Amino acid sequence: MELFLDTADARAVAELSEVLTVAGVTTNPTIITKSGKTPEQVAAEMLAVLSPDQKFFMQVIAEDAEGMLADAHRICSLREKNMCVKIPVTPEGMKAIKAAKAEGMCVLATAIYTADQAFLAAMNGADHLAPYVNRMESLGDGVGQVLDLIQMLAGSGLPAGIIAASFKNVYQVHQLITAGIQAVTVAPDVVWSMIGHPSTQLAVDEFVDAWEASFGRRTFA
Ligand code: G3P
Repeated sequence: MELFLDTADARAVAELSEVLTVAGVTTNPTIITKSGKTPEQVAAEMLAVLSPDQKFFMQVIAEDAEGMLADAHRICSLREKNMCVKIPVTPEGMKAIKAAKAEGMCVLATAIYTADQAFLAAMNGADHLAPYVNRMESLGDGVGQVLDLIQMLAGSGLPAGIIAASFKNVYQVHQLITAGIQAVTVAPDVVWSMIGHPSTQLAVDEFVDAWEASFGRRTFA
C-alpha cells in the first residue's frame, strides 16, 4: 500500500515524510487556490522537499483535449522524473488521457465518481485512477464503488492502479486499506488523525514515569 499526501503544503509534506513512508504528493486546483500561493510557488516548494523517488501530481486546467495536453506538457516539464499529470475523466479528458499516454506521460485519471469511469480511463492507459471516495459516499456507496473497481481491475489485466482520494475521515481510509487498496491520497490532518491516539501517549508517559521513579532517568541508560 502506498500513502500519498493530498496537499499543497510543502511543510506538512516534509514533516510527514520524516514520520511516515510517503510515496508522494497529489494536488488539485482547489487545494492550490486555497493555499494562497501560485501554482508555480506550490510546485517549487514541493519539489524542494520531495525526494526524487516521491511522485508529484498536478492537474490540468484546460477543458478541451488539446488544451489539456498543452497543460500536461507544462506540468511534466517541471521535473525530470516522477512528475504525473492529473486529467479529469470528462469526454475531453478521456481523449487527453489517450494522447498523454501515447506520449509516455505518467497519467492519473481524476474526478472519478463511478467505478465505470475509472475502468474506462484504465482502458485508455491511465496509470493511476483517483476515485473521490467521500464525494461518492455523499451520492451513494463510495466505498462500495471502489471495492467494485478493485475487482474489475483484478480481472482485467489492465496495469492501472487505484489511488483512492477525497477522504474526510480515518474510517473511510481504514475501510479501503482493509479491502486491499493499492494506494490512498489523504490530507495531512486526516493522516495525523490516523497516527495519533491519546492512549498511546498516556502509555508512554506511564512507562517513562515508572522508569524515572526507579532509575532516576528518562532515557534507557
Ligand atoms: O485531490 C482530489 C481529491 O482528493 C478531492 O478531494 O476533499 O475536494 O473531495 P476533496
